[in-house]
Amino acid sequence: MEAVDAWERYARRRTPRREFNASGARTWLNWTQYPDHGPDESILGDVQCRSVLELGCGTGCNLAHLSTLGAICTGVDIAPSQLKKAVTRWGHLPRLTFHTAEATDYLSCTAGQFDVVLSVFGPVWFTDPAQLLPLIRKRLSPGGVLAFSHKPPTAGGVQPTGTLREARAVTRWDHTPREWSAVLTSFGFSDIRAEIISPPAGKDTGTLLVKAYT
Ligand SMILES: C[S@@+](CC[C@H](N)C(=O)[O-])C[C@H]1O[C@@H](n2cnc3c(N)ncnc32)[C@H](O)[C@@H]1O
Repeated sequence: MEAVDAWERYARRRTPRREFNASGARTWLNWTQYPDHGPDESILGDVQCRSVLELGCGTGCNLAHLSTLGAICTGVDIAPSQLKKAVTRWGHLPRLTFHTAEATDYLSCTAGQFDVVLSVFGPVWFTDPAQLLPLIRKRLSPGGVLAFSHKPPTAGGVQPTGTLREARAVTRWDHTPREWSAVLTSFGFSDIRAEIISPPAGKDTGTLLVKAYT
């Protein structure tokens, strides 16, 4: 499958996340493309005992952090090699399960119900919202939250940069905060907050962060 190959190429070029962050923590959630920058998991609310699904979890580092906070975590990624890395690094943690699957396939087949669905530079950026958002909404509990991040769109559109070039076969659904608000509203989400997080000093690209409720 073209998408699997593209994401396997991407996975091969990624360097593993550091063992500790700048604060000395072994696990953390990073919404942005920059280390030690941006909001943490608190934007999701208290995750203890809540069921959390991450779409495009990669090597599982964000989800591992939520597991240490008491969440019941499921990670899904299309690239089989990512699952191997996730299990090798985080398989010892409790309440943490990883699956190799395409996001819409997983959501179509699972009977699971989730309090939180998140996607960090993941399939929400790479999948037609008309296909993905109804599937996510169906699997979210009443009052459940969807949160995702990706790079903001650039005027005129740009080709993927950096390591994302390896996944160039992949289409991106680039939307501004205002466009995401309209799209999410049209699929029944509410209390939508869509914003651009400023980049750290010396960088010029921020991060688009979106949160919406069922
Ligand atoms: C840019 S990486 C981000 C990985 C991780 N969320 C992080 O922040 O490090 C995108 C990830 O989404 C996965 N992915 C892309 N499209 C997908 C899809 N349709 N279904 C499931 N996973 C997908 C890729 O394999 C890759 O691991």
